[in-house]
Amino acid sequence: MQNFVLHNQTKILFGKGMVEQLGTECRLHGQKALLVYGRESIKKTGLYDKISTLLSDQGVSFIDHGGVVSNPLLSHVREGIKKAKEEKVDLILAVGGGSVIDSAKAISCGALAQHDVWKFFTGKKSIKATLPLVCVLTLAAAGSEMNGGMVVTHDEKRHKFGTGNNLLNPKTSILDPSLTITVPHDYTVYGAIDAIAHIAEFYFTTKEVAPVQERFMEGLIINIIDSCNRVLQDLSDYDARADLMWCATLALNGWTAAGLGLVGFPMHMIEHTLSAHYNVPHGAGLSVVMPGWMNYMVAKNPHKFNQFSQRIFSHAKPDLVENGYTGVQSLKEIFRKWQAPISLEELSIPESDLPRLARESLPLARNWRMNDYSEEIIHEILRGCL
Ligand code: NZQ
Ligand code: ZN
Repeated sequence: MQNFVLHNQTKILFGKGMVEQLGTECRLHGQKALLVYGRESIKKTGLYDKISTLLSDQGVSFIDHGGVVSNPLLSHVREGIKKAKEEKVDLILAVGGGSVIDSAKAISCGALAQHDVWKFFTGKKSIKATLPLVCVLTLAAAGSEMNGGMVVTHDEKRHKFGTGNNLLNPKTSILDPSLTITVPHDYTVYGAIDAIAHIAEFYFTTKEVAPVQERFMEGLIINIIDSCNRVLQDLSDYDARADLMWCATLALNGWTAAGLGLVGFPMHMIEHTLSAHYNVPHGAGLSVVMPGWMNYMVAKNPHKFNQFSQRIFSHAKPDLVENGYTGVQSLKEIFRKWQAPISLEELSIPESDLPRLARESLPLARNWRMNDYSEEIIHEILRGCL
């Protein structure tokens, strides 16, 4: 294990009915909020009205900023920043999934900047201050509720870039699993696959032998698979939703990466290009890219893939590499059973577009310092996803 500093400042209120404490939590940080949310789910579920009451009971007013789309757009973030500045809000409140929380994070830092917020995503400027952010999570997936990451798509350039800073961590995130009961089959599955990918990125790219972290990550993957299976049996199963929600948060809040030293995010680097150019749901893109990237890496990291195959699926073929491929195939079969896409064809992405997608992945690869990923290597990985 390498030395590490772990300081996650997000307060988590987890469990049924915790959303009742939203008003008091917001009042700790401000009096006039910008309420950031998606298209219609929180209105359809009645959560919007509930939140209005909870806020007014504590004397917190709010300005509405709905309309965040999946793979959130820079143009909508810029509108939110303009509103936040004009209305002089002192708090950002995000109610939704990762797209909403990421947009809210971008607004929270953009509202205090004298330059365009996109400069934070290209690395031209670093984040110095943010408005306080409170989140109500309604979809178990991205892990944004307990980390300092954010991902936004530049409308014209079609660059889907991510950046991070501890200042972006929410002050408080309310994780009430009963709010996720209305998440449909497909987005339940996409969220589970996203969480597995967050773990797999660190598990397979670290150079460290870290038995504690490896068992922790393997345990999370096993629990994500188990709890997602239980949710798909019964979408209203609170306990299964609670297990899945907590696993997805733990998958990307810094705890899994502790002590692993330098890790990469290659599957996300490639998937972000699919989402940016084809508006693919993030987890659906990973369902295709993850097995493809894993198959490309098995022979380069046989011990780890063999360990993954043994510990997650109990495969025990004598040949390390063959056992590694068998583990990847088992993961792919689970995605297929969940009715998630497992080929670029199912995402309606033609083979003829692979050279362009490989080329379009390079800016983020460089942004994320993944200089060992050339256009040719990315193209080869994408060919393995056809
Ligand atoms: O827009 P509404 O009407 O709210 O519907 C949403 C949306 O259509 C719906 N939904 C959310 N909660 C619901 C619900 N439907 C019914 N009941 C509920 N309770 O679900 C759809 C998808 O929502 P979205 O927020 O896009 O999904 P997710 O949470 O998977 O977030 C994906 C975004 O997170 C980013 C991804 O790039 C993507 O843009 N990520 C952020 C990360 C981070 N900040 O650390 C890391 C991740 O790797 C990821 O990149
Ligand atoms: Zn992700």
